Amino acid sequence: MNSVVRVNHPLIDHHLCVVRDAQTKPSEFRSAIGRLAMFLGVRATEDLQTEPVTIRTPLADAPSHRLAVQIGIVPILRAGLGMVDPLMVLLPDSQVWHLGLYRNEETAEPISYYDRLPPGGAPDVALILDPMLATGGSIELAVHRLRLWGVKDIRVVSIIASQPGIDRIAKLGPDVKVFVAAIDPILDERSYIVPGLGDAGDRIFDTPRV
Ligand code: PRP
Ligand code: URA
Repeated sequence: MNSVVRVNHPLIDHHLCVVRDAQTKPSEFRSAIGRLAMFLGVRATEDLQTEPVTIRTPLADAPSHRLAVQIGIVPILRAGLGMVDPLMVLLPDSQVWHLGLYRNEETAEPISYYDRLPPGGAPDVALILDPMLATGGSIELAVHRLRLWGVKDIRVVSIIASQPGIDRIAKLGPDVKVFVAAIDPILDERSYIVPGLGDAGDRIFDTPRV
């Protein structure tokens, strides 16, 4: 599988219109982020390892398959929180491990402010959730942290990425795959994705900067 997958679907295109639109109010923005996360989550999990089992139905035995790997959902605070619920609907037995990162406004370098990953017990597969992959610095830092923890299969789920950010993350190695709904061409002078959707965290939580 290619390490970067742009997921195509007419409903993804439709919900992208909602999140990109500057007139969309926060409640609709949150809902559309959730729907997009659900589509991307289905695609990002389509090759998860399963094991054969026999399930006893009320009528007979049914040859079946169930998940054979432990999944860790890793939202990047704050904006990644907007993608957690749909992923937990898909993966109800997954663990959720939060990483708190924010970008320095002058340098756009990520700064870690919350990290309570334990010394051992890394999941087999980690799904990093962050709607925006701009310079890629935040995702790169999260990938390094998860590797240090011991995760061998890392999947990044983002709604909009920039081309420079994708180029950066694609170089990280074969243990990292990226699933995105859109790849936009450029970053502006503040390292915001253009055209993008603005500040995802502020739009999810209705915290406009004045
Ligand atoms: C945003 C976004 C990513 C990061 C992307 O978070 O949610 O985490 O920027 O930028 P990068 O690819 O250049 O690292 P932000 O720092 O605005 O924090 P917030 O989610 O708390 O608003
Ligand atoms: N963070 C955002 O929320 N949006 C961008 O375009 C870049 C970083």
